[in-house]
Amino acid sequence: MRCLARGPAKAEDSEPVGQLAARDDAKAGDGEPFGELPARGAAQAGTGACERRRYRTDGDDTERPTGVVMIEAGRDRSEAGNHNGEGIMAGILQGKVALVTGGGSGIGRATSLRLAKEGAKIMIGDYVPDSAERTVKMIKDAGGEASCVAADVQFAKQVEAMINKTVETYGRIDCAFNNAGIEGKFSDTILCTEENFDRTIAIDLKSVWLCMKYEIPQMLKQGGGSIVNTASIAGLVGFNGIPAYVAAKHGVVGLTRTAALEFAQKNIRVNCVCPGVIRTPMVERAIDGGGFTEAEVTAAEPIGRLGKPEEIAEGVLWLLSDAASFVTGHPLTIDGGWVAH
Ligand SMILES: NC(=O)c1ccc[n+]([C@@H]2O[C@H](COP(=O)([O-])OP(=O)(O)OC[C@H]3O[C@@H](n4cnc5c(N)ncnc54)[C@H](O)[C@@H]3O)[C@@H](O)[C@H]2O)c1
Repeated sequence: MRCLARGPAKAEDSEPVGQLAARDDAKAGDGEPFGELPARGAAQAGTGACERRRYRTDGDDTERPTGVVMIEAGRDRSEAGNHNGEGIMAGILQGKVALVTGGGSGIGRATSLRLAKEGAKIMIGDYVPDSAERTVKMIKDAGGEASCVAADVQFAKQVEAMINKTVETYGRIDCAFNNAGIEGKFSDTILCTEENFDRTIAIDLKSVWLCMKYEIPQMLKQGGGSIVNTASIAGLVGFNGIPAYVAAKHGVVGLTRTAALEFAQKNIRVNCVCPGVIRTPMVERAIDGGGFTEAEVTAAEPIGRLGKPEEIAEGVLWLLSDAASFVTGHPLTIDGGWVAH
């Protein structure tokens, strides 16, 4: 297993946007920190460049993207797994617009590629712009249509701007995959710090609420839509050593069910996916960072292997599409049998 330069512990560092200094992790990571964001309006939807903006430095939404991730391994896999010479062609999402958060890596990237292959126009929101731009390029190279916008989804203003940018660019949002997330630090319930707890809840739970808060009004305006949130098997059962993550993901399942009930008669379906252990940069960080070993998770997966991001993408595609027209409020496990224990 390739050793990534950064373990989960550092994923919690945070600095104001205005004070970005060169950081080893940022250099090693896939994305450029947000200190160099061009002003709003410099969106280059047509070029594949991610709209980046500088946020004020005196408010809550000023934190620069933190937890800059290493996606080298994921990128290689995604490129290999999604460039089989098959181009984009008319599919079950033809003409639809899909917003994917965390589309610069892992599950979000694989899903962006899969949705694009079915004809959707993709807007990627990610706080690592270079990663998002790379996914956009992959989609365009395959003949699809995609743009990206830099957004840290734990902050309301950035989420609102991301939704506005999507509507400005493509006119509507038919499908939303609220997927961005972090693993947080590994520490048990009594050792978990307040900072770790708050940050994990903000990125893994509050962000999902914020995304729905701004997506649903747009969907109501246009007469409907479909939302899939990323929960986890950790949203259904407990896990040692990640109390905040487990709490956040249980929260995502609850939020999903609530929004599903609230908008069931408004032609808006809201579901979530509960992935098992999927081989992405997040899991590689957890393995390298000592959260667990690959042998342990492989042994714990009844199917006897880790999942692939593309296997989650298939479930997300189905839930987002009209093929799942009678499905709402459902947490779909795609987990190799993990929660069947
Ligand atoms: N990999 C797994 O085994 C697994 C299992 C269950 C659930 N999940 C969930 O799947 C989702 C995707 O995880 P992954 O494994 O693909 O991880 P990943 O680290 O490969 O990708 C996460 C992406 O989200 C982005 N991101 C993180 N925080 C963000 C923020 N605040 N604002 C905007 N973008 C942000 C990152 O830049 C990255 O592109 C997460 O919600 C994760 O909790 C993963």
